[in-house]
Amino acid sequence: MQNQANKLKDIVQKAPKNQAKTKFIAITSGKGGVGKSTISVNSAILLAEYGYKVALFDADIGLANLDVLLNVRCSKNILNVLKGECSLEDIIEPINDNLILIPGDSGDEILKYSDQFIYERFFDEATSLNDLDYIIIDTGAGIGENTRLFLNAADEVIVVTIPDPAAITDAYATIKITSKFKNEVHLVLNMVKNQKEAKLIYEKINKVAKGNIGSNFSLELLGSIPSDKNIAKSIRNRTIFVEEYPSSFATADLKDIVKKLILKVEHKVLDSRKDSSFGGFIKRLLEQF
Ligand SMILES: Nc1ncnc2c1ncn2[C@@H]1O[C@H](COP(=O)(O)OP(=O)(O)O)[C@@H](O)[C@H]1O
Ligand SMILES: [Mg+2]
Repeated sequence: MQNQANKLKDIVQKAPKNQAKTKFIAITSGKGGVGKSTISVNSAILLAEYGYKVALFDADIGLANLDVLLNVRCSKNILNVLKGECSLEDIIEPINDNLILIPGDSGDEILKYSDQFIYERFFDEATSLNDLDYIIIDTGAGIGENTRLFLNAADEVIVVTIPDPAAITDAYATIKITSKFKNEVHLVLNMVKNQKEAKLIYEKINKVAKGNIGSNFSLELLGSIPSDKNIAKSIRNRTIFVEEYPSSFATADLKDIVKKLILKVEHKVLDSRKDSSFGGFIKRLLEQF
């Protein structure tokens, strides 16, 4: 294993650097079923609507995969590309003019296929994605090592929770783990009664974070989304909520969240040493092994 890791290090160091300025946003949660995939898909649709080039990267291989939510069928994923069974282009699903889906993997399999030729080809192919502005990563729930790799490699981490006490406890565990490698986490409260409830819950979590994590760390409330039965209905009907219900409160709140995120991200000073391409992101993932 050590040898394989060394070999991989060698390969990733040789991978080409480039000028892409893609922002990687990881959407995660402590508990499953809190709305990560719903928020990932609808935020990506909104970003695309605003004119950004966006990709959704599905890193949660579970029941409700993003291809199902987007009503497309993916039979292969990034692992097949890394194994050399197909090209990156083969797995990418165009959703609209500004949005693509990259079927991903939860992370546990990636190191097994560290063949030099394939990685080189992969980094080469990945330059075709250099014009992407945002990649939204829908991660698995919980604080497993694979999810942690994605959170660490992402530029921004959004933790989603619902008002349920067990979900809040798990969200806090995720925030605490993330604070070991990020000094900022964004919180989205989903399925709330109103914004006041969201704010109260945020203040509670933030108080615990301030007391336990330290003053260098900041937890920001990005926003909240009310419970809306039409969200579940759109998922059942394989339609996109923000497109089908553009004037709902939930869509308005999601728009606020996305706009706030854009402002945050665009105000940050770019680290010119970092390779902000999709290839660079995969490289950052691999370097953590
Ligand atoms: N704001 C909301 N109001 C009502 N139902 C919601 C809301 N957000 C998500 N849901 C529903 O909750 C369920 C879980 O959402 P999903 O996005 O699959 O969660 P996760 O990806 O975190 O497991 C889905 O049936 C979805 O329709
Ligand atoms: Mg999901």
